Order: sequence, then C-alpha cells, then structure tokens
Amino acid sequence: MLSGGSLINDRTIDPSIQEHVSYGDEVRTFRTSLNTLGDGFVECIDDGTLQSIAAAQIPSLGGTIADKLIMVPVLEARTPTLRAGRFGWKNQHASLISFSADAYLNEVGITSPLQPTENTSMGNSVTVFDKVPDPEDPAKPSAPFGVDVEAFARFIRATKVPPRDATLAATPDAVAGSTLFDSIGCAICHTRDIVTAPAGTMSNGHTFTVPPALGNKIIHPFGDFLIHDIGTGDGIVQNGGPATRNKMRTAPLWGVRTRSRLMHDGNSTTFIDAISRHGGEAGDVRDTFVRLSDTEKRQLLAFLSSL
Ligand code: HEC
Repeated sequence: MLSGGSLINDRTIDPSIQEHVSYGDEVRTFRTSLNTLGDGFVECIDDGTLQSIAAAQIPSLGGTIADKLIMVPVLEARTPTLRAGRFGWKNQHASLISFSADAYLNEVGITSPLQPTENTSMGNSVTVFDKVPDPEDPAKPSAPFGVDVEAFARFIRATKVPPRDATLAATPDAVAGSTLFDSIGCAICHTRDIVTAPAGTMSNGHTFTVPPALGNKIIHPFGDFLIHDIGTGDGIVQNGGPATRNKMRTAPLWGVRTRSRLMHDGNSTTFIDAISRHGGEAGDVRDTFVRLSDTEKRQLLAFLSSL
C-alpha cells in the first residue's frame, strides 16, 4: 500500500510535494480513466442479477461466483453495508456516491464527509499548500455526503448510455460480426443485455431509491461488471482481497469505438492487440477468434467499431 493515497499523482502545485514511484515499488501500473456515461443504470443493477450472470459463466469459465463477484462497502450507508462491486477497473465500488467521494479525494485531492482525511504526498504533509479546512466539500442538510460529491453522482445518474452508431451497426459486416461475437464466446463476459432493478427498489444501504428513469430498463453494456483473470492482471489489490490481485473487470464495450487506447493500462491501440492479450479465463475464446477466417475477423472488428 502506498503512503499518501492509492495513486501516484502525475502533477503537483509545488516541486517539493511531487510524488514519484519509489525504488522497490515493483507492483505498479498505468490505469486509463473510465467512461462514466450510463453508470446510473449500472448502479441500479440488483446484486442478484450480477450473481446470475456469474453463475451462468461457471460451466465455460470455471471458478465460483465469489471468484468473479466481490462485495464491497457502501461508504454512505448508515449501517455497515456490502454490495456487489461494479465500478472501477477492480470493481472497487458499488455506489456512485462512494465512487465520487473516492475519486474526489484520490484523483482530485478534495476531502468530503465520506473521505475526510487529506492524502499526504507519499508520507509528507501537504498542509502548507492546503489551507482549506477538511472536509473541503462540505455537507449540507440536503447533501449530507458533500455538495459536490452528491452533484457528481446526480450528474452521472442523469447521463444516457453511450449510443451505438446506427449506420455502422447496420452494415452487413457489423451484422455478421455481431453474431460471431456471441457464437465464439466474447459475449460470455461482454454481456449484451442486462435489466436494471424495478423503480422504487431501495439500494446502497437504504440511501438510494431506483428512480423511474433508471428502473426496469434493458441496457446493452457489452460487459458483465464482474472481474476475471485473463492474464492482464496488474498485481494490485483494491477492495477485493488478495485473490483479486490479477483480476480486472471486463471492460464494458459500449462506446468502445470512441477509445484510442484499450485495456486498463492503455497499452493496446487496436482491437486485434486487445483481443490477443486475452488469455487465462478468456484463452479458449481468444483461440477461437484466432482460428476465424480473415473475412470473419474483419466482420467482428466491424461490429466492435459500431459499439
Ligand atoms: C473471460 C472473460 C472475457 C472474454 C471471454 C472476453 N473478454 Fe474482452 N475483456 C475482458 C476483460 C477482463 C477485459 C479488461 C482487461 C484489462 O483491462 O486488462 C477485456 C477487455 C476487452 C477489450 C478492451 C476494451 C477497452 O475499452 O479497453 C476489448 C476490445 C475486448 N475485451 C474484446 C473482446 C472480444 C472481441 C472477445 C471475444 C474474442 C472478448 N473480449 C472476450 C474479459 C473477457
């Protein structure tokens, strides 16, 4: 565990508090920022739905539900509450309030009621440069978890899901590629359809009620919001315990046509590169992809380019 927060910040306002990777910090990775569009729908997926997706994967991928689904604390719950993790590259969060408070502290450097303790710069106090009393994002009666943190969560809940390109999706290649995506097994993890919980369902430890706009909706994330070892693991443990060291969340493929760097580390720049890196639990599916004809591969790539 790093002293001074979960990441090495790239920039600083003063050279004396610039963070650096230390000698001996061998477990490290780059992480690309995740898209948050449509995450309000993801927050409204019942734990039971994610458990069913995991259970259906066991015959082809092996393992148990607990290998793929981790339960993580909901920070804003009034009594200690665990919920199926679904946000972040390691499924480290289950609610958008917890996720926003975490990002505000660790990525941006702003404390809030749920994350009131300022990070140090690798153990060195930053107090000289930070004179605002904590929590910097204050609570109000109408926003007990922080004015900004609650606004971020509300904003994310108001976003639509990344839309497909209807013209590209209708091409014969993309239509054929869509069928191949299912038949060779990509859709085992890159789940096509998920139905959100009914409006009125209470979740996040009774702090959130699924609104009509997000309830009982069919979404097409092309992701299962579960974690898998596909051989790309970064060695880092977040909320899931030692067994999650080398697992990553299936990247949801909605909106993937807009991304130029792929996988958690951004180290793959083409779909073929990203697919070739799928080993471990995804090894058999990758091998089936490799055996496709050139035409079929082109069709599958045309489908990905339409998402
Ligand atoms: C066993 C589960 C599993 C299967 C099967 C699987 N994937 Fe993935 N996929 C993942 C995981 C996990 C990641 C994220 C890995 C990482 O970031 O290190 C991922 C990432 C990707 C990405 C990168 C997306 C991004 O935004 O960075 C693409 C593209 C992709 N998969 C396509 C495919 C295709 C095409 C197939 C079928 C040939 C497939 N996957 C089969 C689990 C799977």
